[in-house]
Amino acid sequence: MYNPPGMNAPVRKHIELMHGYTPGEQPTDVAVIKLNTNENPYPPSPRVLSAIGNITAEQLRRYPSPDARDFRRAAAAVHHVEPEMIMPTNGGDELLALVVRACAGENDRVAYLDPGYSLYPVLANMQAAKPIPVDYEISSQEWRVPKNLGDIDAAVLLIVNPNAPSGTLIDLATLEDIARRFSGLLLIDEAYVDFAPISAISLVARFPRLVLLRSMSKGYGLAGMRFGYGIAQAPLIAELYKIRDSYPCDVIAIAAATAAISDQAYAKAVWQKVIEQRQWMTGQLTALGFGVPESHSNFVLAQVPAGMDAALWYEQLKARRILVRYFNLPRLTDKLRITIGTPQQNEIFIQTMAELKTGMTPPD
Ligand SMILES: Cc1ncc(COP(=O)(O)O)c(C=O)c1O
Repeated sequence: MYNPPGMNAPVRKHIELMHGYTPGEQPTDVAVIKLNTNENPYPPSPRVLSAIGNITAEQLRRYPSPDARDFRRAAAAVHHVEPEMIMPTNGGDELLALVVRACAGENDRVAYLDPGYSLYPVLANMQAAKPIPVDYEISSQEWRVPKNLGDIDAAVLLIVNPNAPSGTLIDLATLEDIARRFSGLLLIDEAYVDFAPISAISLVARFPRLVLLRSMSKGYGLAGMRFGYGIAQAPLIAELYKIRDSYPCDVIAIAAATAAISDQAYAKAVWQKVIEQRQWMTGQLTALGFGVPESHSNFVLAQVPAGMDAALWYEQLKARRILVRYFNLPRLTDKLRITIGTPQQNEIFIQTMAELKTGMTPPD
């Protein structure tokens, strides 16, 4: 049962005082064009459905492999690392929770670039740790990391790359510099890396306090399955294993994620289609007068033309059954985050934006 603040629920004080994470809307109306939670517009590999179809009643009767053994092996082969360096989790979100729980106690500092993934401060608050947002330096459509970020005093540093919600990318040299200087646990959240030209995976072998986060929700079209994983050196993975649930990934999800990651040809073809559509969307939105930083992800962040109201755009799109994401957060209130859809969805979206713009622009 939901207890509003001040109801004296029997929970610890810092839990009573904190706010939980607000997920994006998940409408039941299937006719909605859903460009609000960065799902892949394409279905997973056909091998996924056949793997799920082959699950037997006997497999369901038993507990699953505690370490999602088949997935570990398949992911290790894809990334050319040892299976002991792969940590399968119930979505990337579970990995984030485990890392913060393992490394940050009461009053410890949990640092992250801001604007970034709005779950991070929530995870810090759960630990009674201190959320330390570090501002991105934003000028025009450039998003830059402050110099000497690696010197920050914190137990954990969380960096999304490519970033959400901007889609912008931090280069490898900068990430390496941060990894070299930072004295705590560094997590590079690569939930959207499949749509980007680089990954920090080459750094894992050299930095024992580095964890990469990967998600099967975006690149592999499995958001409904809840499957993600970490990549790190084996001793760090072994520490995280101590505090996870006994069976965080179920037998169906393990089969689905293993089939999906094993079909790299299918996944790569999907990523390419999304990247092409992202370029098209960026061009169209820019032509309509929106400011769009170069995205390396499966969404774009569009700053509404000067004098216009992003919340109003959001509402008007919603009234036309198109959902995008509006964040009522500092430095985001003049922007909309738009997931790249299928070519047909994207065309409807751009057409609707053009019509709305005509309606909203005051006549000369
Ligand atoms: C930046 C970022 N990290 C991690 C995740 C977690 O993804 P999942 O738990 O679906 O694997 C998300 C999901 O939206 C995200 O945006």
